[in-house]
Amino acid sequence: MAKSKGDAFRVIQNSAAKGTYRGAVVGCGRMGSTIDDEHIGMPHYPWPWAHAPAMIEARGVELVAGVDPDAEQREDFRRRWGVEAMYGNVREMVEKERPDLVSVTTRPEHRAEVVIGLAEMGVKAIFATKPMCRTLAEADGMIEACKAHGTILAMACHLNWYGHYTNARQQIEAGTIGQLKSMVNHSAGNLSNLQSHTLALFRLFADAPAKWVFGVMDDEERVADGRDLPGSGYIMYENGVQAFMNSRSERTGLNWTVEFVGETGRIVSRNAHAQFELWTTHPETNNPVQCQFPYPWHPRSSMVDAIEGVCQSIEQGEETICPGPFGREALEIVIGMRESHKQGNVRVDLPLEDRSLGIG
Ligand SMILES: NC(=O)c1ccc[n+]([C@@H]2O[C@H](COP(=O)([O-])OP(=O)(O)OC[C@H]3O[C@@H](n4cnc5c(N)ncnc54)[C@H](O)[C@@H]3O)[C@@H](O)[C@H]2O)c1
Repeated sequence: MAKSKGDAFRVIQNSAAKGTYRGAVVGCGRMGSTIDDEHIGMPHYPWPWAHAPAMIEARGVELVAGVDPDAEQREDFRRRWGVEAMYGNVREMVEKERPDLVSVTTRPEHRAEVVIGLAEMGVKAIFATKPMCRTLAEADGMIEACKAHGTILAMACHLNWYGHYTNARQQIEAGTIGQLKSMVNHSAGNLSNLQSHTLALFRLFADAPAKWVFGVMDDEERVADGRDLPGSGYIMYENGVQAFMNSRSERTGLNWTVEFVGETGRIVSRNAHAQFELWTTHPETNNPVQCQFPYPWHPRSSMVDAIEGVCQSIEQGEETICPGPFGREALEIVIGMRESHKQGNVRVDLPLEDRSLGIG
């Protein structure tokens, strides 16, 4: 019998968890339940993005319960996903349903309380959406509580699991663009909300913690009152990798472009992760040469991949693709850039000493 070169069966087998897990969603709004309704005409955002349908599609997970204090949200969730075990209270849900994996898709102001409570109740894994929370002290508390109770804390910055970016990382590991030197992001948006995704990606690719930052913010009113805000900045990672963040308030015409620049080439993701380019260097002329980017053979929803990945993290005893500290670092970088702006765009070292600082 001919032996397949790709061993597709192994890819399928190795990407699934061994066990089966009971899943629940806390926060049955857009990200928990309905956001795919908004993704019309965006084939590069493969469904499902919302946590409930992603849990339904993920292998090894059964969606057993939902929690929302709003009765209308609970009813909508029940109708959409056929989940009868709906609760208004997290504690009651955990006591009755004993979930292994809980998605936390509330807004950030509820995140720390919900996550710490779930860890204290012994949930195996928490998959929390971005931004992680409001303050550095809350982020510290979430990470400490999960560590103390042996709970896996994964941030749902699902691009970190997106097959295209996984292949890009494999190209970098294989030396295709030489050593990674810098990363560049262009996209309009608020730094903590949207760019939590970019900063989690940067952290994964840099493979080292951020060491210092500086920033130039676009909105003095928001700098003063502490709300999330647009702006630009620079990040130096501990291993010398540098990152440039261009997140101005105006629409730039650059619909989310991320570039990974190596010593001998670069990988570019354009149009909100729709197109990827791979550039290397001609061995004789040294000119840039565009090559075929190795798109995934088995393209899937990054949220489904992420949920299966978190189940595998339960089995491995650690989360490596987007653990809690990546979410805390994203928050810390944005606060650091804002503090830099306040002090005249100076260098700000991380971690920040004042843990009461936050983004509203
Ligand atoms: N691609 C992404 O990763 C992505 C996209 C959109 C939103 N988000 C994030 O998802 C989060 C939620 O945003 P949204 O647009 O879905 O908001 P939303 O208001 O639509 O949903 C939040 C839900 O949480 C519920 N809720 C409030 N307190 C709760 C509690 N203590 N326990 C359980 N449920 C509670 C609310 O009633 C509401 O139904 C935000 O942090 C946002 O940044 C992420």
